[in-house]
Amino acid sequence: MALYAIGDLHLHFQSELKAPGQLHGRVWKNHEEKFRKNCEKLITAADTLVLAGDHSWGKNLSECEADLAYIRDLPGRKILIRGNHDMFWDAKKTKQLNELYQPGLTFLQDSYEVYRDYALVGTKGYTFEGPFLIDGRGRIVDWDAVEEAHAKKLVERELRRLRTSFESARADGYQRFIMFLHYPPTNILEERSGFTDMAEEYGAEQVIYAHCHGESRFRDSIEGEFRGVRYHLASGDYLRWKPLKVLD
Ligand SMILES: [Fe+2]
Ligand SMILES: [Fe+2]
Repeated sequence: MALYAIGDLHLHFQSELKAPGQLHGRVWKNHEEKFRKNCEKLITAADTLVLAGDHSWGKNLSECEADLAYIRDLPGRKILIRGNHDMFWDAKKTKQLNELYQPGLTFLQDSYEVYRDYALVGTKGYTFEGPFLIDGRGRIVDWDAVEEAHAKKLVERELRRLRTSFESARADGYQRFIMFLHYPPTNILEERSGFTDMAEEYGAEQVIYAHCHGESRFRDSIEGEFRGVRYHLASGDYLRWKPLKVLD
């Protein structure tokens, strides 16, 4: 029995592919096939796989059916977190999605799932990427205060959702947590954020995040131990489509 994670499959069996990097990058060539084979080698029916967002390029549920069927047919229990490109998934309608897809897929939002004595909690998160512009030497050359105010609202909403998840697990007696985000827990300027603070507050042992694509973005946030929590980037291209083992 093991817990695995990966993010950013960006499937497009039925929809238009919108990222040029995914068209031309070698790592993306037949990535669906590479990933499926890796899963079949590693993951058994007793294992759990958490998919940390950006599942599909589809604009709505009908454009995602083949993508979700592909995920459903992978081995193990599948738990999905929302990503910024998952237009098919309205957070407020998560219950309906679960009614449609369970037991094949579990869509995790404002709630928790159990793995051994751990509660798995997760939400999309949000990272300030727009409000500032940085030059080649890493100096801030511009700042958008309106964008920043908007980003703060999104961060607060995501933190509320995450707290609801932690609190519901805690109310049911869980004390050990693994936390999942789609966005990185900090932006490239931050050491700490509301997300790292919350991981520490609840004593999450690990934080798994995705979203960062391409060599130049893999170091955008925390990797490894920070203030007692272990952080891991699990975007598919970073992992070369081999799911990350989170727990035995
Ligand atoms: Fe992505
Ligand atoms: Fe993303």
